[in-house]
Formats: sequence, C-alpha cells, structure tokens
Amino acid sequence: KNVLVMFGGKSVEHEVSVITGLQVVENIDKNKYNVIPLFITKNGEWYSGEVLLDIKNYKNMDDLLSRAKKVYIEPVPNKPYIQFYPEKGLFKKAPEPIKIDVVFPALHGSHGEDGTMQGMFELCNIPYVGSGVLGSAVGMDKIIMKDIFKANGIPIVNYKWFLRSNYINNSSEVIEDIERNLSYPMFVKPANLGSSIGITRAKNREELINSIEIAINYDRRIIVEEAVENPMEINCSVIGFDEDYRASVLEQPISWQEFLSFEDKYLSGSKNSGMKSAARRIPAPLPDDKTKEIRDLAVKVFKVLDCSGISRIDFLVEPESMKVYVNEINTMPGSISFYLWEPTGVSFKELIDKLIYFAFE
Ligand code: DAL
Ligand code: MG
Repeated sequence: KNVLVMFGGKSVEHEVSVITGLQVVENIDKNKYNVIPLFITKNGEWYSGEVLLDIKNYKNMDDLLSRAKKVYIEPVPNKPYIQFYPEKGLFKKAPEPIKIDVVFPALHGSHGEDGTMQGMFELCNIPYVGSGVLGSAVGMDKIIMKDIFKANGIPIVNYKWFLRSNYINNSSEVIEDIERNLSYPMFVKPANLGSSIGITRAKNREELINSIEIAINYDRRIIVEEAVENPMEINCSVIGFDEDYRASVLEQPISWQEFLSFEDKYLSGSKNSGMKSAARRIPAPLPDDKTKEIRDLAVKVFKVLDCSGISRIDFLVEPESMKVYVNEINTMPGSISFYLWEPTGVSFKELIDKLIYFAFE
C-alpha cells in the first residue's frame, strides 16, 4: 500500500510536525507499506521526494526544496493521486502521478489537525488516519470544545469567552464580565492556536488586560479560564474506532515553569523527540482509583467528540483535592504518543499499523 505521510504545514507547530512525520516514516513497517513523504512548507507549498526522508536535510531549506519535487493533490473525488508540477524545459518528461491508498496526516495545529485537511481527504475519497472533520475541528477550538465538554458533564475549569471586536469596542464591560464570573489567577488563550502560543497567566486586572492584549493578536475569539493552582499535569492517549476504545498508561510531563511554554515544549528538548518536555513520568504517580477515573474520562472525551484513530487528552489535577479537570485534546498528538503505548506492549510500528487499519474502517 502507498502511504502518504504528510508533515510540516502552515501552523505554528510546523517544526514539531516535521519531527512527528519523520518518526512515522522511520517506524512504519516497510515490508507492508511504501512510504511517500509529503512535506508542507510554512507557506503551504507541497513537496515530495526521497530527500525529505532525512532530518539532516532540513537544516538548509532552500537546498532541500531544490532537491524535492513540487506536488499537489487535485480535490477531485476518487482520484487519489499526487500530481507533479511540470518541470521547466520543453523536452522533460512529466513524472507519473502517484496513487495514494491512505494518508497519514502527521500534522499539528491549524490546516492539519483542525478538520480542514480531513475535509479534503473526504472530498477525494482517500482513507486517512485519525479523527474526521468533526472531531478534528472541535478538538482544535478551545471554546466549542469546552462548551461540548460542559454539556456532557466532563469536568473542566470555569471559563468565559469573548470576541476581539467586543473587547475593542467595550473593554471595560468585557473585563467586568470576566471578573464577575471567574476568580484570579486566570489563563488567557486564543481559541485556536496550539503549543501555548499567545497564552499568558493573569493574577490581577492589570495582568488580565495585558494578557488579553497579547491574545487578541492571534485570534478573533479569546477564552479566559480559571487557573488550577499548582496543577499536576496528566496525559492519556486513546486509540480506537466506533465502540472499540483503549486508553493508554498515564504520563506526567514535568515542567518547572508555571505552565508549559512553547520553548519548554519544543525548543529545549532533545532533537530526536517530538515533544520537548521529554522529561516525563510514566506511569504517572497516581493511586489506582485516580488512574482509572482519568482513563475512563479520556475515553469519554474521545467518544463525545466522535474521535477516531488516536488522540491525547491532557488533564489537570488539583493536588490537594485531587480533583480532575480535562484541559484539552490533541487529535494528532506529538510523536503520535507512541511512548504511552510502548509500556503496554504496543510498539511504535504496531501502533502505526493499527492506525492505518482504523483508517479503512
Ligand atoms: N500539539 C502538540 C503536538 C501536542 O501537544 O502533542
Ligand atoms: Mg494541539
């Protein structure tokens, strides 16, 4: 089978997606699958070719792209081919289109993990790994996601949201409304960006205003959440399809900062690991009943958003009360969360195999 592994992309999570994508390429069963890499540049141009398989080649982007071939997919139903842009020069023979049997979109963030790419695969009738349009789109939007969690009795922190235009036209009303409903400290977040970008913490009104002024640079819609004091972060991955779900072991990512910043997540970590906070405890040090509660909740979240394939659900646990809150979901988690499956005996190779199998369900 020809598996198109897509990575990179226009989102702020471009770099980590390259790492995730190349991890998939490295760990996929080569006896079963023929890998076709598809690298999306930060400008949204698509490239394929052998040169994209080695991470060392990414140091010099101009050189990399000059050695790769520019490609595109026509969103024409039932034509699952990647097409090559014609080469310059009259007598060059155009390369043959490559048929795609299944896509593995190892993409994080907007235009990849948010349902847009998934919509194109649906239109083209190409099987693809991971959640569909709905689960991907809802999982990417912090406001809609929390509204849906709330409606389904999934525990989340108190939150309020507003439009940037509301704030610009009447900031004092927006601030008052937030203060009436939430208590400090709070987190202010753009509704739609990943990787902690544009997210800041506010302990008082002055900081709240500063935080909002930062967040409105990134999105039209802003969410403000009550912060959990000194939370223990716990993550759990779920795989499955339809009624057949499985939760992984739990991890506790370790951070010395107030919360995981972008640098903390990706830039300071080891070059080989998708996630920068490679410091993690697996399994997370929690009593059995808490572990069960979190794993059950993770499955519930996956089901409520109609996810499929794989996700990683991130929790916050209040250390004194041990109260559990769902923080967010990643419908295409960094490094495909392979490190949460290995301890249960599912190798990265088997995990990829299962996810490709689910793509055909
Ligand atoms: N969005 C990143 C890749 C993650 O949390 O896994
Ligand atoms: Mg994310």
